[in-house]
Amino acid sequence: MFNTSIRPAIPKFPGMTTLDKEAFNIQIPVVRAKVPTSAMRQINRNPLFKMTKQSGVTGKGLAVVTDEKDSDMRWIPLPAHTKADLPQETLDALLELAGFVEVEDSSVTLGWNYWTVQEIISAILPEDADMQDGIPSSFTMTGHVAHLNLKKSMLPYRFLIGQILLDKAQTIETVVNKLDTIEDQFRVFKMELLAGKDDYLVSQIEQECKFTFDFSQVYWNSRLTNEHRRLVNLFNPGDLVVDVMAGVGPFVVPAAKKGCYVLGNDLNPHSYKYMRLNTEQNKVVDNVRLFNDDGRNFIQTIAFEAYMFPFLEPSLERQLLCRPDIPNIGKIPGSMGFQSSNETHPPVDSASRQTEHHSSHTFPDLAILHSDSRSAVSPSDPTSTTTTTTTTTTPNTTVQHPNPDVAGRSRRRVKAPKPIYEPTLFIKHFVMNLPDSALEFLDAYRGCYRPLVDDAGLSEHKIEMPMIHVHCFAPSIAEGAHKEIFQRASERLGYTIDPANDPTVYIEQVRLVAPKKWMYCLGFTLPREVAFACKGSVGTQKEEEKKEAVEKGENDSTQDL
Ligand SMILES: C[S@@+](CC[C@H](N)C(=O)[O-])C[C@H]1O[C@@H](n2cnc3c(N)ncnc32)[C@H](O)[C@@H]1O
Repeated sequence: MFNTSIRPAIPKFPGMTTLDKEAFNIQIPVVRAKVPTSAMRQINRNPLFKMTKQSGVTGKGLAVVTDEKDSDMRWIPLPAHTKADLPQETLDALLELAGFVEVEDSSVTLGWNYWTVQEIISAILPEDADMQDGIPSSFTMTGHVAHLNLKKSMLPYRFLIGQILLDKAQTIETVVNKLDTIEDQFRVFKMELLAGKDDYLVSQIEQECKFTFDFSQVYWNSRLTNEHRRLVNLFNPGDLVVDVMAGVGPFVVPAAKKGCYVLGNDLNPHSYKYMRLNTEQNKVVDNVRLFNDDGRNFIQTIAFEAYMFPFLEPSLERQLLCRPDIPNIGKIPGSMGFQSSNETHPPVDSASRQTEHHSSHTFPDLAILHSDSRSAVSPSDPTSTTTTTTTTTTPNTTVQHPNPDVAGRSRRRVKAPKPIYEPTLFIKHFVMNLPDSALEFLDAYRGCYRPLVDDAGLSEHKIEMPMIHVHCFAPSIAEGAHKEIFQRASERLGYTIDPANDPTVYIEQVRLVAPKKWMYCLGFTLPREVAFACKGSVGTQKEEEKKEAVEKGENDSTQDL
């Protein structure tokens, strides 16, 4: 034990290029006292002499040892660096407990493990303020991969920083640096390996579900855990939920586990592949269908498809899909088809690591923030009429499509499996988490419910409208930000979203992504005027109006010479 209130300064090695751990060993003076062995019991009970073990501190000045010449005497460490530092209170207590006291100088060694990651990085960097200010204060963990977002000034030292991190944190096996803020269409950020193995197949637990994916091929952000949980908490068991940009399934899998029926889509084939794996390993395949389509096409076709091919008997559905003698089953134009059980799975390293819970880390203590707990499945709403959500314990109930026209045509008048919740026929929630551009997809909702009237023969008023939860970015959290989001969404929808007219409208401030860049979620009920509008986007309509005007010679920007 030594005086822990004064943290010794780490030795400095500015410009160190090869990591030399031994260089960080330093000896510091401490004092120790010789006391009779018979007094040890009393001394040990006294809080003034309580030993606190510290990582990385070694040496005889720290241990209780028997005196080499007199086996009835022991040396005990004292909380001071020099005799002069020794508090009078400690000396008095020693005199009282031991009767006679001999105090001598000793030393301890502070080694590599004693220093924090930040102290070590600071020690290897040039001492000017610019460099010292650039020291990263945190990193993010995804499975066994730690990712840093280093400032430009840190780049010459990036490999050394990577090695320091790898060495100091036992759970880290790979350290990468995010290369730039420009991400590709699939929101996968480019990264450079700094230390450890070139292996990005990770497993991550979120909302008590296990997600496996190749972090170099798909989008994942552990900082969205709360947002994933917030939306899943809004869903009720039995709800039909659509995720238009689903990634590897952080909404899809927990929603399905809760008893929702989920249609998940992602344009990135890697995301689709791992989302499928994740539904399998979390045992929710029976109430999930997956698609690998562009979000715009998907929005336009999914309401009709969900109604025409409701969740009834998923295992039979998959058997049908595997039969080559039944062409195009389960497919309608625009859809990429249902998840099929005979597709191959991505190779998964059986030894792939699993890191529990959200993982944003700060350097000094490398603490993991534990934050997850899945909400319990809540009972369904028994008052719902058009979309009954009921629990049932009776397997093998025959379920028919409620619309006799469709029931006659349906290929799935089959026995229900062991349903936990009876699925709804109409979509309850659309999720669109592509904050960079999801608002621009809103025009795809125009007319997307028309086929339910025109082709399925339903009357408009019987069709329930879904909630849309669409993520976006805005530069501030000022009041004006909300107005701007409403405006952008309204323009794309071709309909004014007005919280005064629609009580379901909300704006959730999700998180600060970068300076002056906030992530929001806008929620509203899809207006009937939009859902049943004539097909075609607002943009397309404008284009067509323009074309017509040109044809009629009304456009004054085209002039005959
Ligand atoms: C920000 S990520 C969100 C993923 C997931 N929902 C989550 O919360 O982690 C956006 C996803 O949209 C997908 N994406 C990008 N463009 C798309 C498009 N045109 N249609 C469908 N998905 C798209 C990307 O591949 C990516 O997985």
